[in-house]
Amino acid sequence: MRKINLGLIGFGNVGCGVVKILRERKAFLAQRLGLEINIKKICDKDIVSKRNISIDKELLTVHAREIIEDPHIDIIVELIGGIHPAKEYVTEALKKGKNIVTANKALLAQEGQELFALAADRGKNIYFEASVGAGIPIIKSLREGLVANRFYSIFGILNGTSNFILSQMSHDNCTFNKALNEAKSKGFAEKDASLDIEGIDSGHKLILLTYLCFGKFVNLNDVFIEGISRISLADVNYAEELGFRIKLLAIAKKENNDLEVRVHPTLIPCRHLLASVDGIFNAIHVSSDLAGDLLFYGPGAGQLSAASAVVADVVDLTKDIKAGLFRPTLNIMADKSIKRLRSIDEFESRYYIRFMALDKPGVLAKIAGILSKFKISIASVTQKERRKSQIVPIVMIIHEACEKDLRSALRAIDQIDAIKEKSVAIRIEEV
Ligand code: HSE
Repeated sequence: MRKINLGLIGFGNVGCGVVKILRERKAFLAQRLGLEINIKKICDKDIVSKRNISIDKELLTVHAREIIEDPHIDIIVELIGGIHPAKEYVTEALKKGKNIVTANKALLAQEGQELFALAADRGKNIYFEASVGAGIPIIKSLREGLVANRFYSIFGILNGTSNFILSQMSHDNCTFNKALNEAKSKGFAEKDASLDIEGIDSGHKLILLTYLCFGKFVNLNDVFIEGISRISLADVNYAEELGFRIKLLAIAKKENNDLEVRVHPTLIPCRHLLASVDGIFNAIHVSSDLAGDLLFYGPGAGQLSAASAVVADVVDLTKDIKAGLFRPTLNIMADKSIKRLRSIDEFESRYYIRFMALDKPGVLAKIAGILSKFKISIASVTQKERRKSQIVPIVMIIHEACEKDLRSALRAIDQIDAIKEKSVAIRIEEV
């Protein structure tokens, strides 16, 4: 049986999963494809540490170029993550006529335009299903299953680690740091966990989804990104009392001829489907003109779920190579009605606000006075505790306000002597 040779760069958690699947399902895949997928070489900077699978030493190398320069390797799977040297490896591999499979969302979000253009120029493909939602086939669904659709919005929970932390806080009254440490020990978090909790990983994934839906490759600097690191257990509990759950949402939404692309903690009503997406699960809601509203849901991180997506890409590429086909995967029709990106300053929503104020007469009046100066209207207000002359939380929901006005108001409020901490504001999304 003819073989397709594969080189794997990055033999970590997901890499081991890929090897495991390709080995255990070898006969099954060969039967489906009429071709054998053969792992020819595996590269990692550490080939000494024990993995949970046994591997022939002959297959291992620390030199990525042994793979990139091997003329018999057809597909390179890049699983090292990060921008450098992944970008150099992918660039060289494309120039050597290889097809690429990657799970590297940071690389594609930041360097994708250049890499996709190079791939198209060389008649090769970069497949990246595992980069968003791990095993959830969202990329293939957008690219193929929904190919005839126009999109109104795509939004959802794209980072398993942040969702795990928020769920632990919400259900187990666990503190932020304890939940973060648990996510790290379970291997869900990025090497640099600030990418997860500061919303950057969600931003990377959102850039890819935005491109697939709207044909716009948005620069990371133009995506409004706010993470969950300032969310306290108190906010989670107060939101819950008000009938909301806090989720880190990534949102790309068409508003008339503008496109909003943003990532931030969001209060959503407890009855909304996304409110019950817990733990490392991801959920992506797609609103389209033909297929309507769709929800994709599943584990967003983890060895086998990510490896499942990598293997699916390898299988797709193998089919193309067998058929001698080049199917440009990213000839996406840009939505020409979109004229500009809308800045977060123009964004309008209801907000949850928490002030930490001295419990003394007149403080609330001062806060209300400043909000009124910026024409911001209060929907509800509760002082959460009574501690005379001590610091207490004041929780407010405000009616629709413009982000720019709210920020100006909060800056002024934070100058009041009796306000003892930077105020927290969380957007309420009418999803
Ligand atoms: N750190 C990522 C997450 C892994 O928690 O979602 C999957 O991309």
